[in-house]
Amino acid sequence: MDPRTNPYSPGAGLRPVALAGRERDIDVFEILADRSGKSLSSRSIVFSGLRGVGKTVLLAELAGRALERDWLVVQIEAEHTSPDHFAAAFAGELANAVRRRRSWLGRATDKVKEALGSISSFQASVGVQGVSLGIDRIPGRADSGRLQFDLVDLSESVGSAAREDHIGVVVLIDEMQDLTEEQMSAVCRSCHRAGQANLPWFVIGGGLPNLPTRLAAAESYAERLFDYRSIDRLKDADALYALTAPAIEQHVTWDADAAGFLLGESGGYPYFIQQFGKSVWDAAAGPGSITLDDATFGVAEGQQQLDHGFYASRWERATRAERDFLRAMAADGGAPSRIGDVADRLGKRNSNAVGPARANLIGKGIVFSPDYSLIAYTVPGMADFVRRADPADER
Ligand SMILES: Nc1ncnc2c1ncn2[C@@H]1O[C@H](COP(=O)(O)OP(=O)(O)OP(=O)(O)O)[C@@H](O)[C@H]1O
Ligand SMILES: [Mg+2]
Repeated sequence: MDPRTNPYSPGAGLRPVALAGRERDIDVFEILADRSGKSLSSRSIVFSGLRGVGKTVLLAELAGRALERDWLVVQIEAEHTSPDHFAAAFAGELANAVRRRRSWLGRATDKVKEALGSISSFQASVGVQGVSLGIDRIPGRADSGRLQFDLVDLSESVGSAAREDHIGVVVLIDEMQDLTEEQMSAVCRSCHRAGQANLPWFVIGGGLPNLPTRLAAAESYAERLFDYRSIDRLKDADALYALTAPAIEQHVTWDADAAGFLLGESGGYPYFIQQFGKSVWDAAAGPGSITLDDATFGVAEGQQQLDHGFYASRWERATRAERDFLRAMAADGGAPSRIGDVADRLGKRNSNAVGPARANLIGKGIVFSPDYSLIAYTVPGMADFVRRADPADER
């Protein structure tokens, strides 16, 4: 059928036509915001899940909802490759968010002046130039150069100005597992202080499933600080909606067996539903309906696309020793592997011998450590891919 009307959107952070199965997560934010309007406090929120489950899309949805409420919205993507970038990104995004609030720049109350001055000081201390707020720095505010003090200063001053103005501040941090322990601790402290002073400063984090553990390692109280929500594959009814609703908008229906086949193959993972949906649509004869034949052909095509993109991009970044490690994990069929078992399968005497490969693969974001002695793929379906993509000549 016509690719011009193809309603599916496989990709990183691409908004789906039908955002399925996240109503409760969205509600948690709406309740937080409504409560904040009544000066009632709430915990900040952390979403965690595997690659491709829809964390970025969900954060973007919440950013949109916060903007509709005229809140200050600070959006940051953490990058493990350049941890120094975080403070500067924070400063720049915060200044930008404030600049969009014209009333703060025009009619500055004392609290607003204090907030703008603190942001200016913070910007200067982390070396960000160019975003002027028209207010002089306030020496001694948010400019210590130690993030754990400076973010607390910012949460106090910006949070107080926001409360006075009956709005809130939401800081969205995607790929949050890539923050350093010090940065995580600073973020936790800013929320902690805001909570104690009942200031409307909230962090919404998105990251891999090891994010809650990493936060707990950074600050012991982190487990009580956030509302941890796991973002996972979609339930059957939600997966069906994600697949069929976009087609119905184009007056196209999925035959029940075709939809059932595709959803089975997708395992309910949002990214796979989008990829398979797109490939099937393009391959389908049409018009008006999608048959099991279309689905069978299109899913095979979609699988190839995943193999060449989603999986291959990770496999190709792994060295020979790291691929051996990934292969040894595949025997567990996608469930977390014990490091000791991986070492055994590779004929190593103990877990330390596979330490470097493990650490490098974590650094590359291909695996994560769900627990001290365990290791797991960050992408669903990787075990099957490794088995498929395991040409004998590579060994
Ligand atoms: N709730 C949903 N319903 C339908 N499709 C969705 C949903 N959430 C995400 N998608 C689709 O899934 C794909 C992946 O979404 P997204 O990039 O947000 O995932 P992610 O969890 O951030 O992945 P990564 O960990 O790789 O950053 C996109 O193609 C998006 O359109
Ligand atoms: Mg993402």
